[in-house]
Amino acid sequence: MTSLQDDTSDDTGAAPAALFPTGFRWGAATAAYQIEGAADEGGRGPSIWDTFARTPGKVLGGDTGDVAVDHYHRFRDDVALMEDLGLTSYRFSISWPRVQPAGSGAFNPEGLDFYRRLVDALLDAGIEPWPTLYHWDLPQPLEDKGGWPERETAHRFAEYAAHVHEALGDRVRHWTTVNEPWCAAFLGYASGEHAPGRRDPSASLHAAHHLMLGHGLAVQAMRAHAPGNRFGAAVNLYAVSPATDDPADVDAARRVDGLQNRLFLDPLLLGRYPWDVLADTSGHGFNPPSEDLAVIHQPIDQLGINYYSRHTVAGTPGEAAQAASSPFATHSPWVGSGHVRFVPSGRPVTGMGWDIDAGGLYEVLTRVHGEYPSVPLYITENGAGYDETPDEDGAVKDAGRIGYLDAHLRACHDAVSGGVPLRGYFTWSLLDNFEWAWGYSKRFGLVHVDYATQRRAPKDSARWYAGVIERGGLPGRG
Ligand code: FCB
Repeated sequence: MTSLQDDTSDDTGAAPAALFPTGFRWGAATAAYQIEGAADEGGRGPSIWDTFARTPGKVLGGDTGDVAVDHYHRFRDDVALMEDLGLTSYRFSISWPRVQPAGSGAFNPEGLDFYRRLVDALLDAGIEPWPTLYHWDLPQPLEDKGGWPERETAHRFAEYAAHVHEALGDRVRHWTTVNEPWCAAFLGYASGEHAPGRRDPSASLHAAHHLMLGHGLAVQAMRAHAPGNRFGAAVNLYAVSPATDDPADVDAARRVDGLQNRLFLDPLLLGRYPWDVLADTSGHGFNPPSEDLAVIHQPIDQLGINYYSRHTVAGTPGEAAQAASSPFATHSPWVGSGHVRFVPSGRPVTGMGWDIDAGGLYEVLTRVHGEYPSVPLYITENGAGYDETPDEDGAVKDAGRIGYLDAHLRACHDAVSGGVPLRGYFTWSLLDNFEWAWGYSKRFGLVHVDYATQRRAPKDSARWYAGVIERGGLPGRG
């Protein structure tokens, strides 16, 4: 296998060295449905993503995760790749329908055994396993009973979490409950762009609440069993800016920040919902029981932050709002935020069309540290997606990704230097994989995957990241 230790970082531009403290975690992240494949093997039950992706018109190109990058069969090779990169930690997700096919009732020992073998392979390679218990693949039978908008789903999640934790908690120390509850709730139940594809604003708010309730119940159950383990959730936070200082734009930014960031941070870290978001969404029958807040507000040992971009938003007052927002208001993930437009900022974008703004990551980190009680922070996802093809020699010269990661790691370093308790960084993603509604058209991996042959080939960014890890940070430049 190719050695990944060469340092291919360029030396253009002026930037001082940015070395991280000893013990800083260097990781990469993946998720079960995006990489495992083996959808109908090993006793796995169907998830909402199987149903959604197999429904024509839902995923670009009709792609599904049926085979994905076949990680279920190739996990040992993938662990070897991680070892070559020098990763200290690996964030992956556990597929609930692989472990408990119906989402309640019987567990599937073969499913659990897959994760036991994966964890053992990681530990043998000196890599710390960092599982997430829910990365969007709800067992279909639970959706058939109402899914996340139903309170019962939170209880089923806690039961599943406790079972997995009992099996692996002696070897796995760091546990993430739910990944990006904003996406699961609002893309899944409001805009319908993600599984299960429902368009019901009220259901999406209840889903958000029950995802967080599930987090709290799961932390309680797992901590009772192994108080020494470290528990937390992973939220996707954005920097949000108004397009101008016009009050309508400033109010649009407040609404989007409320629904994207504070709707999750406030209950998790302060034990209350932001009153303005409750007011914005008051027409949707969302009156969460106050006693749930104490459960959601469990002490946590770590907070995962997934950061990709900044939103720049404008208000659309008056009649123009009616015209611009009527289809948007009914099928938007921004429930209660009608009269909001997302506007181009003029910044460079990735292949996803997402603004590249490393300053936004610094802003998010310092904001969480400054406005909330202190908790160890981890960047649990950060990366750039492109539509890439290898050149004739098979190389992927992904200078764009290297530039993105370099800038975002420098922002992390600035935050650490300023006293933010950031303890680790996981890039999204180890491998190219199934990018949800985009299918296989967008690639986020450090390692290129040829989907026809499943051949893995490290991109330039893989070699670059290996150098960063070996050095413990970024070299000075210029
Ligand atoms: C995040 C998801 C992750 C991946 C990246 C690009 O929202 O958590 O699975 O798709 O986006």
